[in-house]
Amino acid sequence: MNTTKVKAYGLFIVGLVSLSLTFVLFLKESKEVPVKAPTIDWESIETTYTRLENGALQFKIRCSKCHSLDGSGSSAAPSLTDTAFIHGSSKSAIFTIIHQGSPNMRMRGWGTKLLEKDLIDLTLYVDALNKNEK
Ligand code: HEC
Repeated sequence: MNTTKVKAYGLFIVGLVSLSLTFVLFLKESKEVPVKAPTIDWESIETTYTRLENGALQFKIRCSKCHSLDGSGSSAAPSLTDTAFIHGSSKSAIFTIIHQGSPNMRMRGWGTKLLEKDLIDLTLYVDALNKNEK
């Protein structure tokens, strides 16, 4: 075998290995199982300015690309400012969706990506956004 051939085989094998690795990682990612949301005692959590401010910041960074900056929604995601909540508008319903993702997984769960504190602040922020009776 001449060196060109050896190089070509080498490249081919490296390519094959990285391709299969990518595939395995892809499979792992798509099999991600949502972690069940813990029960939060909402009565004991006060909606403070600091919490809402952090919720707004988190929302801007992670949620606004689908739900839009003011939460009014887009073609990618429903409005969070109206009264029509598909999955319930209580704090625990909102928290569960944010934590586990929507049942059809059009929105993925954030429970494994964010701190519980940030998930709670996001819930309080979304709760403040929507026009349901408090
Ligand atoms: C990739 C786009 C996308 C991102 C990013 C996203 N969502 Fe969603 N979200 C959706 C879609 C789509 C739905 C509707 C799911 C369904 O049909 O059940 C939804 C539903 C929801 C609901 C339930 C609404 C209802 O009517 O019951 C809440 C609450 C929510 N999202 C909050 C958030 C928060 C908070 C974040 C950021 C941490 C976020 N979403 C990030 C796409 C997204």
